[in-house]
Amino acid sequence: MQLRPDPLDSALMLQEVLALRGELHSNPDPDCAWTGDFHGVWQLHQRPEFSWLLQQVSREAQHYLRDLGFDLDRVRLHLQRCWPVVAEPGQVVGRHHHPNAHLSAVYYLNGDGSGRNGCLRLFNGRHSNELVPGLAVGHDGPIATGHPLNAGWHDVAPQAGLLLLFPSSTDHAVLPSDDEDDLRLSISFDLCLTAPACGPAEFQPPEYLAPHPGQWLELPLAGDPPSRKMEP
Ligand SMILES: [Fe+2]
Repeated sequence: MQLRPDPLDSALMLQEVLALRGELHSNPDPDCAWTGDFHGVWQLHQRPEFSWLLQQVSREAQHYLRDLGFDLDRVRLHLQRCWPVVAEPGQVVGRHHHPNAHLSAVYYLNGDGSGRNGCLRLFNGRHSNELVPGLAVGHDGPIATGHPLNAGWHDVAPQAGLLLLFPSSTDHAVLPSDDEDDLRLSISFDLCLTAPACGPAEFQPPEYLAPHPGQWLELPLAGDPPSRKMEP
């Protein structure tokens, strides 16, 4: 989704991200971009400079779920974490996914759509379109070599204002930037789905969807009393 931010909002977000990064320029491997979640900067959603972006993510995540066939009356979305990523020229983020979350998003503060400041590579690890496991590898198989629906990955070029949502289980990586004059600036989000809070006469959580966290019970550790009472 291409968003149209107010230039002042963009300037404030950019300024805040650079201020939060401070003097650190990597993660700490010098080839790896600085990612806020490694440095205690994972709650941008609590900062007023990011309130506009938070609203957009909330709205677009709901559109995304609706487009996938979700009944929004039967799920709740929770934002876990929101952190900035700043890549210097040549820096990368290695292949990974986010096992703590269900739905992830990334918003680009800059980029011209050419990919020269480092594409996001989304890997197609399951190759579900090859139908017969292993067929898309090649070796004179019946599937056209490099067909986009059977490619091993898809690259997305950063563009200022672009908001991308994808399943958190998708492996992804950031490719190195060829732009020697600019940083690559993005903001990442991790979201979780649960059932809505419910009373006895309402829809109960389906089997594989966690109940609403407001109905969880934090168990005491080391003799501490429980922080919440169990629902009757
Ligand atoms: Fe990531």
